[in-house]
Amino acid sequence: MSEPSRRDRWAIIVHGGAKDIPPGQEQIHRDGCLAALGAGQAVLEAGGRALDAVVAAVRALEDDPTFNAGRGAVRNARGEVELDAAIMDGQTLAVGGVAAVKTLRHPISVAAAMLPEVPVLLVGEGAEAFARAHGGEFCAPADLLAAGPDDRGCDTVGCVALDRHGNIAAGTSTGGLSGCHPGRVGDSPLPGCGLYADNAVGGVSLSGDGESLIRTTLAARLMQGLETLPPGPAIETALSHLARVGGEAGLIVIDAAGRIDWDHTSAQFAVAHASASQPARAFVNRAEDARKDLA
Ligand code: GLY
Repeated sequence: MSEPSRRDRWAIIVHGGAKDIPPGQEQIHRDGCLAALGAGQAVLEAGGRALDAVVAAVRALEDDPTFNAGRGAVRNARGEVELDAAIMDGQTLAVGGVAAVKTLRHPISVAAAMLPEVPVLLVGEGAEAFARAHGGEFCAPADLLAAGPDDRGCDTVGCVALDRHGNIAAGTSTGGLSGCHPGRVGDSPLPGCGLYADNAVGGVSLSGDGESLIRTTLAARLMQGLETLPPGPAIETALSHLARVGGEAGLIVIDAAGRIDWDHTSAQFAVAHASASQPARAFVNRAEDARKDLA
């Protein structure tokens, strides 16, 4: 069979966070990831941009209280909600990010509105002022808090997409870390830590213990591996660096050739992926996704 032409090729992967999924909640995690994947996949199948697919998928995850982002956020030590998100365009290397925001309904959309701007990352009131000036959607902080026990660790959501034009984008969004210091910013909005995208190499989005991912610049390590290795070995090499500082991680990847892969050191990591050559499927751990070659 001949290789698909670039215009026939697209791929997308989403994640719902590196964490323990309580028994009985596996299917709502698979279903939530599949719904978000579908939102992004529809953009790609119609010939739309990878950036728009990532925003569509992450918005769906931010809307789903199953996941710690947007509506499923957790409380910091002061009982407040603080959200972080970023998106990166692999064509231009533009990055937009917001951090420690308390009233944004969809941090990923405000991060996307930052892409043409010079600053890479705005925090707190400055980010919310930017959102007000650029049509951001606001809500009461209480509307963002997860119902039920607030012990959901560092889970985060994310998406990487490759569009029919060969452009790659990556996005990450989090509802924070339970009981963390007010003003703490994790890896999610930091390029090279919680995400990265470069059309020449690939795109990645990470979840896990933010301080460990920052100390090891894990997204940057993964991108460096992708320059010479297929996604699976590149993930393995990046995780060997994480072992030096400890902590859990989940990583999703699409390389420049459109190959998808993912792995995690956490107990679970809900993921869904699809491409022009593979139907949409969802999993709660890598062992469920038995295929070695996910392209
Ligand atoms: N990985 C999300 C965080 O640590 O904030």
